[in-house]
Amino acid sequence: MKVPFYGHERQYLSLKNEIDANIEKVIMSGNYVLGPMLTQFEKELTEYAGCKYAIGVGNGTDAIWLTFMALGFGPGDEIITNANTFFATAEAIWIAGCTAVLVDCDPLTKCIDPAKLEAAITSKTKAIVPVHLYGQCAPMAEIKAIADKHNLLLIEDNAQAIDAHGDTFKVGELSEAVCTSFIIQKNLGTFGDAGAIFTNNEKINTVVRKLRSHGSDARNVHSYGFNSRLDDIHAGVLSAKLKMITKWSDMRIAVASKYTAGLQGLDFITLPTVRPGYRHVFHLYVVETAAGVDRDAFVKYLVDNGVDAKTHYSIAIHKQAGYPWGKEARIVGSLEHAEHNAATCVSLPMFPELTDEEVAYVIEVVKNYKNG
Ligand SMILES: Cc1ncc(COP(=O)(O)O)c(C=O)c1O
Repeated sequence: MKVPFYGHERQYLSLKNEIDANIEKVIMSGNYVLGPMLTQFEKELTEYAGCKYAIGVGNGTDAIWLTFMALGFGPGDEIITNANTFFATAEAIWIAGCTAVLVDCDPLTKCIDPAKLEAAITSKTKAIVPVHLYGQCAPMAEIKAIADKHNLLLIEDNAQAIDAHGDTFKVGELSEAVCTSFIIQKNLGTFGDAGAIFTNNEKINTVVRKLRSHGSDARNVHSYGFNSRLDDIHAGVLSAKLKMITKWSDMRIAVASKYTAGLQGLDFITLPTVRPGYRHVFHLYVVETAAGVDRDAFVKYLVDNGVDAKTHYSIAIHKQAGYPWGKEARIVGSLEHAEHNAATCVSLPMFPELTDEEVAYVIEVVKNYKNG
């Protein structure tokens, strides 16, 4: 049997009529950029997220740096995030001209460790970017308490965790803005690049709407800006898919529960940790190999046996060749847990439409691994 890592085609077939109808509607409307389908999708996003504004942009990376720019962050300003995120979180800090301050993650959940924040804060710090990694929220209430004490803003990187929540908080409730990606493989993904910002902050809404479209909010009138818009065809795809997100998250959680039940007690891997009361929507199901296990050999064994395993992310940001490429960056304290995660992480196939047979096959292949 072969178990793929993603199931984009299956998802498309399950919603083909709705997706095709929306695409055709956009094509026949003649409005492809900043048209009515985008307006409709942005409205649906505000209703879904319970926020005042949702602004569609070209991708999740742009969502983050456009938010920073709207807030006036720039050279000399420091922004804290964790070292074990997808590269784009740090990249967005650099695109805005700011200094990326990297701290360690919690060894269990892999999200930013609030205990590492105080040591990273200086008079130049403007914001913290907690990343809701793998589909689980960072501990926002603890992070918010520290941010408030130091007058810092929180911008959530929610590229991986749409539909997740914490024990006492919803995404967006404790922050200035939430940035998301709708790239193909995300829990809510289109057939290409797209992203959005969710906020109640009127300034972010007004400024990003101009910045994303050449600094323009009226024909032929421009100030400094960029080109980063969520195209209407993608908005149509995402509008059709948004209605399914809760169900798809539940299906992901069911797959994760089966993995966790079937993989208990193996001495060569540790399984993901879910914080009590949190809704972890399992964008990724990431195990870590134990000491003495060759991670890359384990991944090769899985792939050779038909299980399309991957690593997220096998090189921490500060370990990438050439870091920090002449950009401003600071590492605070030891990044041992981020580095350990990079050396040991293994992502098993994870998407809502995985069948029971496929999940059982993955479990069987993993269990049959003979270390060494
Ligand atoms: C945590 C995280 N942040 C930011 C991004 C950037 O999103 P995009 O690829 O849409 O620019 C991604 C995904 O790609 C991500 O996983």
